[in-house]
Amino acid sequence: MKGSITTFGMPTEIISGPGAHNRIPEFLVPGKNTLLVTDKGLADSDIVLKVTSVLNGAGFPVKVASDITPNPDEETVNRLTAYLKENSIFQVVALGGGSPLDAAKAACAMVTNEGPLEDYQWNNKPFTKPPLLLIAVPTTAGTGSEVTGVAVITSRNAKKGIKKREIFPEIAVIDPELMVSLPGFLTATTGMDALTHAVEAYVGKNTHPITDSLAVSAIRLIGGNLRKVVENGSDLQARENMAMASTLAGIAMDQAGLGIVHSLSGPVCSFMHLAHGLANAVLLPFGMEYNLSARYKRFAVIAELLGGDTGGMKEEDAAKLSLKLVHRLLDDIGLSGELEKVRQAFKERKDLHVFGESAADMFLIRNNPRPASAEECTELFSIIAGG
Ligand SMILES: [Fe+2]
Repeated sequence: MKGSITTFGMPTEIISGPGAHNRIPEFLVPGKNTLLVTDKGLADSDIVLKVTSVLNGAGFPVKVASDITPNPDEETVNRLTAYLKENSIFQVVALGGGSPLDAAKAACAMVTNEGPLEDYQWNNKPFTKPPLLLIAVPTTAGTGSEVTGVAVITSRNAKKGIKKREIFPEIAVIDPELMVSLPGFLTATTGMDALTHAVEAYVGKNTHPITDSLAVSAIRLIGGNLRKVVENGSDLQARENMAMASTLAGIAMDQAGLGIVHSLSGPVCSFMHLAHGLANAVLLPFGMEYNLSARYKRFAVIAELLGGDTGGMKEEDAAKLSLKLVHRLLDDIGLSGELEKVRQAFKERKDLHVFGESAADMFLIRNNPRPASAEECTELFSIIAGG
């Protein structure tokens, strides 16, 4: 350690394991209005039914709000905030991927604090009152949103995080039983998002011994389990390991920061309407290659964590092995073809310099171990297109 003062704070209580969703009622206040927030895709699913059955059975007659759009915007949060106020909702269970969780995190704080949202998002206005009680229940092993103090909301044509202590959910319920029905493709892309969180937190500028240990555990778990869950979604032990990896990686990236991969994926998602996890999955090995020379030692560790045999190798060669292992992982989980599609799409675009400028403008890039200008980001997009 450098000897400087550092901070680590994660106030969310984590309840995890198969069947953990049965314990949600323990954390709710009896007799108070309860809302389940989810998205349209899940609204009629068995997953929502499982959770509402548990809540209803425990004496919480729950209403369901499912009009949460992917990449939720200000309007979605304002609509949810108004609904919470009009129905005198006291407590919220947010169920799903990052979109319903982030929308609920923002709305729960906006109910008790005077608006507008953009003051908190863009002008860093502090929340002065505690948010509504929020229980976050992820159904993917990817975003880590259940343990982060940030809500990413689309505003002014950008995805912008509201990062404050009050945004952390009070409780995270992580239940692999709610993840077994996630299709293979989504399992693969969300799992790669989690890997990207762990790698970027581990090689970034703002590393910390606590986040290092979380990131290392996450990378090892993903290396050992992502192939298994993509091949057999019903493998509950592998699902549980991936769920825990996602949570560990989520805490690590929230506390330590991200880097060039998430910065490059910002414009790719906005301009090409690619899903967040998929964009990160295909960009990860290229971001790693860009950063390699700044962190040989740490990339050599990543190679070992992903199951590589680095015995007798020079550090630089061991670091390079981590790239091969990520490409092999993409291949094994069926995403190599997606990389080829992205390459092709890049080749056909004449505006990669706009992507590069936008990536270099991202706040996240400040934590990258190697500086990256707009020209360097554009060059990286061109390298991907040319490969
Ligand atoms: Fe991510």
